[in-house]
Amino acid sequence: MTHHLPISFSLNGEAIAIEVPTHTLLVDLIRDRIGLKGTKRSCDMEVCGACTVLLDGAPISSCTTLAVDVDRREVTTIEGVTPADGLSRIQEAFVRHGGLQCGFCTPGFIMAVTALLKAKPHPTDDEIRHYLHGNLCRCTGYIKIFEAVKSLA
Ligand code: FES
Ligand code: FES
Repeated sequence: MTHHLPISFSLNGEAIAIEVPTHTLLVDLIRDRIGLKGTKRSCDMEVCGACTVLLDGAPISSCTTLAVDVDRREVTTIEGVTPADGLSRIQEAFVRHGGLQCGFCTPGFIMAVTALLKAKPHPTDDEIRHYLHGNLCRCTGYIKIFEAVKSLA
């Protein structure tokens, strides 16, 4: 028998109250129940970073986080850091430096960089590498992503 629990949390600043099966993953709640498709799902085992969202401002893998664990907390997705009328300065830097090709990994990278620049507005090269080590990209070779972040530091 599937157990359900009511949860309340903030999603991109909006209050959400919803009942979820206790085994539901956060990535499925965000994408399939709530319909925000910017958060991507790939490895499903906390390796690739495509599913990265912020939980109380810290980057986490939504593919290995239970939805019930965000109860009374704050979740931010790529939709929450994208201005309604264009791109954020982080997103613009990725475009300017060619830090994306297919774009599948990009939301996860943007969330990781958002957390990095909030914690460390002027990160060192090592700090940039440290924050991005959990995000994989099959296309860019990472140099351009690194340069995009460096341009913001
Ligand atoms: S899909 Fe979550 S880390 Fe890869
Ligand atoms: S741009 Fe294609 S996986 Fe990163």
